[in-house]
Amino acid sequence: MSEITRPLTPQACTLVIFGGSGDLARRKLVPAVYNLLLDGVLPDNYAVLATGRKPLSDADFRETAREGIAKYSRQAIKDSVWSHFEQRLFYVSGAIDDPKAYTDIRARLERIEAALKLPANRIFYLAIPPTSIAAAVEGLQKAGLVQPPTDPTQFSRVIVEKPIGNDLASAREINTTVARVFDESQIFRIDHYLGKETVQNLLVLRFANSIFEPIWNHKYIDHVQITVSEAEGVGTRATYYEEAGALRDMVQNHILQLLCLVAMEPPYSLDPDVVRNARMEVLRCLRPIAGKDVEKYTVRAQYSVGKVHGVDVPGYRREAGIKPDSTTETYVALKLFVENWRWSGVPFYLRTGKALTKRASEVAVHFKEIPQILFNADPEVPLASNVLTLKIQPDEGLSFRIISKVPGSKAKTHPVEMNFRYGEAFGAPSPEAYERLLLDVTAGDASLFMRRDAVEASWAWITKILDGWKAYGTKWLPEYAAGTMGPVEADRLIQSDGRNWHPL
Ligand code: BG6
Repeated sequence: MSEITRPLTPQACTLVIFGGSGDLARRKLVPAVYNLLLDGVLPDNYAVLATGRKPLSDADFRETAREGIAKYSRQAIKDSVWSHFEQRLFYVSGAIDDPKAYTDIRARLERIEAALKLPANRIFYLAIPPTSIAAAVEGLQKAGLVQPPTDPTQFSRVIVEKPIGNDLASAREINTTVARVFDESQIFRIDHYLGKETVQNLLVLRFANSIFEPIWNHKYIDHVQITVSEAEGVGTRATYYEEAGALRDMVQNHILQLLCLVAMEPPYSLDPDVVRNARMEVLRCLRPIAGKDVEKYTVRAQYSVGKVHGVDVPGYRREAGIKPDSTTETYVALKLFVENWRWSGVPFYLRTGKALTKRASEVAVHFKEIPQILFNADPEVPLASNVLTLKIQPDEGLSFRIISKVPGSKAKTHPVEMNFRYGEAFGAPSPEAYERLLLDVTAGDASLFMRRDAVEASWAWITKILDGWKAYGTKWLPEYAAGTMGPVEADRLIQSDGRNWHPL
């Protein structure tokens, strides 16, 4: 096995989690640190200091952490490891808008660092609503908790969770606020899709194999489909989702980043900024969808009553906390173009939605049809084309559709799938996205994080669509029954080009 050399190594530090008594900390962040410890990749010395409004003691927090790990961790609790780990978990309560909270955090940090002989390297994870970001970064600064990036003896880094804004203007405002306190080199904007193993494998697949790069362009590729399908409905996140909708929640970040990885030019090194520049170039090349084109190239829809996996699902407007006349889209499909030489004329079809038939995310690269000769001579029954499908989740792997001869004396052909499954090939389940991302922050490696210019470029593109939707009203908000694969309008979007959605 050859190892991808990481340019940077993880360093001893304390992870300070704002929103420390919340869901993200319990389900994802603390289990991620625990798994890194089990895998032996955490720096030798570390601590986690959670902070939140809830008045919890260290012991209370440790108990919640243990429950969270038992329920959500990739690997089970090992008592011998846990007894060491829990000694490194701390909690301090305080409100984000209260200056005293920050002096308390500072005092607590200094005590922990002295006791554990930790350097004053601090990572501040802002798992809080965007409206609280300004108060948090200013509080940190006033309490003297932010060191300049040039300080060689200690580092201060900040991790910013999504949503970063709800349009270009608000994203800029958040970025400006954070930039008043932290240097861009200290800011890590999370898009957890970039931490998924299968998403990282996109780069390896494209640039560690010789056969793909020569055919990865408009000469050989007919079109690309990116699907992120979710079976879950809105769940308990009504307040957030009502304001967001599928375009902001999934396309602005996760799906556009997938697109960047599929469409980017080969970076000349794995240096974080070289990779991020290559991804950024794709965003710069997106043909804007604005004005009347919004109706032509986008479909938005909302789920109505139906069944998912045999379970009744109420229509979106009937879900708890949702306005009965809500026009928030829970599904979106788009057709877009990357305007550069490589992708000239190749449509990219994107779709995502909640309460669909099943949970499945994939990128399907459809190659061009072969000429109408030999095995494809009958125009009534054209041969299926080759499709390379990168399965992001849940059955991680990739499959390649090829045409094969059916055994027998007749010259009959049939499409067959060549399959590779991570689980089968490598045995162990892949690490969670947050594990990889947290580890990268301890090493100061920002390759898998969103740079300010990329966040703003993707919002700029998305905001044009949002403006178009506003201008053309919500009169064309179609519905789809929960448990189906979306509205007929989305089928028409792709069928009018003589193509079909790739079955999941
Ligand atoms: C989040 C969205 O960013 O990603 C959720 O806010 C969505 O609405 C989730 O369900 C999907 O993530 P994953 O890793 O389960 O595909």
